[in-house]
Amino acid sequence: MEEVKSTGKIVYSKDQGSRMVPQEGVEKLIHLSLQAKEHAYCPYSKFRVGAALLAHDDRVFTGCNVENACYNLGVCAERNAISKAVSEGYRSFKAIAIASDMNDQFITPCGGCRQFMREFGSSWDVYLSKPDGSYVKMSVSELLPVSFGPEDLSLQKVFNTPNTF
Ligand code: THU
Repeated sequence: MEEVKSTGKIVYSKDQGSRMVPQEGVEKLIHLSLQAKEHAYCPYSKFRVGAALLAHDDRVFTGCNVENACYNLGVCAERNAISKAVSEGYRSFKAIAIASDMNDQFITPCGGCRQFMREFGSSWDVYLSKPDGSYVKMSVSELLPVSFGPEDLSLQKVFNTPNTF
């Protein structure tokens, strides 16, 4: 892991690089995402999603989708898990497992969640699961190739526009 900033308890990693999570750890993470799905609040879509996020120090943050009568305010499970972690000082992640009720298909994260993951690096793992615990592993960069991220904001630009907007 390449640590570029470490302030107190906050560890911010530039790009962690894919780190192997042992088989047992993956199964536990998927189990936790399935458990998190039980808390899904989705009276409108009735599409339950759970997520379990594994931080650099092996702490796990879970999340579920939380919908709203004002439909566009709904939040995805992955984003909830990541926001919980970040709000507790975590910015470096090894993996996230995602669960849904789809038997015939692995759940895939929406585009917004892919970008949300990418904010914290491209080389960490995403486990797409089915209710029976089977899974497919992909990296954030496979899910969101040629992405835009925090590093792009500091690249050289044609106009050096003063930041007054
Ligand atoms: N959903 C997630 O929580 N994560 C995803 O990656 C896909 C979609 C939720 C949002 C909404 O509450 C429901 O699933 C149907 O789109």
